[in-house]
Amino acid sequence: MNSFDQTKVIAIANHKGGCGKTTTVINLAAEFGRLGLKVLVVDMDPQANASLHIGKTHPSRVDFTSAELLLSNVASLPAAIHEETNVEGVSLIYGSLALGKTEDELKDVTPRPSEELRSKLEPADGIYDVILIDCPPSLKLLTSNAMASATHIIVPVESGSQYGLYGADDLLKHIDKIKRINPSVRLLGALLIKHDERQTVCKLLESTALKTFGHILPVKISTSTKVNQAAVMQQSLHALDRSSKVAREFRQLAASLAQTLELNAAEEGGKNE
Ligand SMILES: Nc1ncnc2c1ncn2[C@@H]1O[C@H](COP(=O)(O)OP(=O)(O)O)[C@@H](O)[C@H]1O
Ligand SMILES: [Mg+2]
Repeated sequence: MNSFDQTKVIAIANHKGGCGKTTTVINLAAEFGRLGLKVLVVDMDPQANASLHIGKTHPSRVDFTSAELLLSNVASLPAAIHEETNVEGVSLIYGSLALGKTEDELKDVTPRPSEELRSKLEPADGIYDVILIDCPPSLKLLTSNAMASATHIIVPVESGSQYGLYGADDLLKHIDKIKRINPSVRLLGALLIKHDERQTVCKLLESTALKTFGHILPVKISTSTKVNQAAVMQQSLHALDRSSKVAREFRQLAASLAQTLELNAAEEGGKNE
């Protein structure tokens, strides 16, 4: 059984690097926050890109990150949560380079190395409406911990790249394996990133992704230079340029997911307009 009755925990996972995981985590978090939902981002990537993007402190200066949380005792969650970030309504558990070492240590210090994050996050059930977990580009223990904690999984897939689905079978096998310890986890589907439906290669990838994953999320994210710009400025796409196409797409994606997951958004359109 999954331990989360009230909070929706979404792992954004794909062991392929550069397919849009972190971008999805940050902008979904920002849009959920705007809907009035209480959001926690958990950074499980040693590269800590999500933390660099929305954290008020550089991850190297944070004492208690997801690395320490994984190896600590059950009551340590409050020490890991930073309520203030660059994005309103969004709290953060920082990632850090130390996660690499933690991943090695987990095997030696615990009988259930894939279930440490879940047991540490459990006290947050009912406190946050949604927890978004940013995964590293691997299928090792850090990703297993994220998936074992999750109520739902989204797989960002780079559309327009002929290699976008490379490794997808391994990912699906891994999710099946995780279902032995987290049987209720649900794969929400593939999220097409850098999608352009006018391009044949994107159309081809879309139909293959549908066959592979069984479901494609109804909102697709197009290519935009604003994505990099927002990361450099440590802002969400909404804060950078709310009327841009890509900001609108993340807004629609969040609204669609809020409906699917029955997240109780305060009011449509949210605050901070
Ligand atoms: N829709 C997009 N349009 C243009 N660039 C994007 C888009 N999504 C992501 N990127 C860029 O692609 C790179 C990888 O994205 P990122 O979200 O960091 O992927 P991951 O976390 O899977 O490694 C980053 O430089 C990011 O700014
Ligand atoms: Mg990333």
